[in-house]
Amino acid sequence: MTKPLLWSGYPLARRLLFRLDPEVAHEVSLAGLDFAHRWLGGLMPPAQPLRLGPAVELAGLRFPNRVGLAAGLDKNAAHLDGLARFGFGFLEVGTVTPLAQSGNPKPRLFRLPKANALINRFGFNNQGLEAFLANVRASRWAQEHRGILGLNIGKNAVTPIEQALSDYLICLEAVTPWADYVTVNISSPNTKNLRDLQAEQALEALLEPLLERQARLAQQHQKQTPLFLKISPDLGAVGLEQLIGVVRNLRIDGVVATNTTLDRSLVQGQPHAQETGGLSGQPVHLRSLQTVRRLREALGPTTPIIGVGGIFSAADGLAMREAGADLVQVYTGLIYRGPALVYELAERLA
Ligand SMILES: Cc1cc2nc3c(=O)[nH]c(=O)nc-3n(C[C@H](O)[C@H](O)[C@H](O)COP(=O)(O)O)c2cc1C
Repeated sequence: MTKPLLWSGYPLARRLLFRLDPEVAHEVSLAGLDFAHRWLGGLMPPAQPLRLGPAVELAGLRFPNRVGLAAGLDKNAAHLDGLARFGFGFLEVGTVTPLAQSGNPKPRLFRLPKANALINRFGFNNQGLEAFLANVRASRWAQEHRGILGLNIGKNAVTPIEQALSDYLICLEAVTPWADYVTVNISSPNTKNLRDLQAEQALEALLEPLLERQARLAQQHQKQTPLFLKISPDLGAVGLEQLIGVVRNLRIDGVVATNTTLDRSLVQGQPHAQETGGLSGQPVHLRSLQTVRRLREALGPTTPIIGVGGIFSAADGLAMREAGADLVQVYTGLIYRGPALVYELAERLA
């Protein structure tokens, strides 16, 4: 299998897309992808995972390759079949919240091209659980179970943080029948106080009932659906150790590390650097890598870890593997490098 020639056209597409407002470019790209998937499918690679090496067994799942789409690019699970043509081994979509919500006012997505970065403060804009699951059910890729599907869940902005558990339970219950794994996202910086849920006691209070529900749902649906926790790169040494303690004690099935950062030290002075929101792309890479390395040291060899943050090349992917990640995910790298990145990573990590 060779790298699809079509992907070499991405730099030109990017030149045009980067002239547009970033959120408009995002929508145009996904609409273009859907169009190409439907009408020009014969010219594109099939909506199937790249198989360039042995499959990876993890958390009771079989990943066809080690490269996944990170959450947030397809918040409503509305583009699964088109995105599957990039060859990902797994797609993580969401964050979904129980009810539809519009997110923060625009503009809320900014490019920092000199740093190969983005800042976003979307705030979980999404169409809500019902529409999300209707989209999953409508996807052929999902129906035919061609790759692994991760569904990423969160809380509505209007739900007080003390009642966050209730939103996560609603989401867990609803998505479990359709998910290969569920990611509990408590690390977005754009929902007020969400990251407070990562503190030791709050985390236990959230995860214990979720794990109980997970066990009940496993019986009900006759399948085990692993629960992963998505964490921030900004926890600090003490915060990370406490979180690791909880993950270990409660035997959480896996960790996705990391979400975006609030740190701006690597983009100081650049246009948009002071925008509120989470910074992603190359400036978060080292933090994500360090978080993964510490997680691996502390959790031992068997706990699944998905490494995400500033992966722009096969070398970055290998560094993430070396730090201890079993699998990797990309978002910002995909915007800057295009779908060829998926191929390069799948090949080198095979
Ligand atoms: C525009 C944008 C929106 C995002 N939305 C979500 C989200 O809804 N849920 C989530 O768990 N992560 C979200 N993320 C975080 C990414 O999944 C990823 O963890 C982070 O961006 C670091 O990876 P990257 O440097 O490859 O982008 C978002 C990232 C970006 C850039």
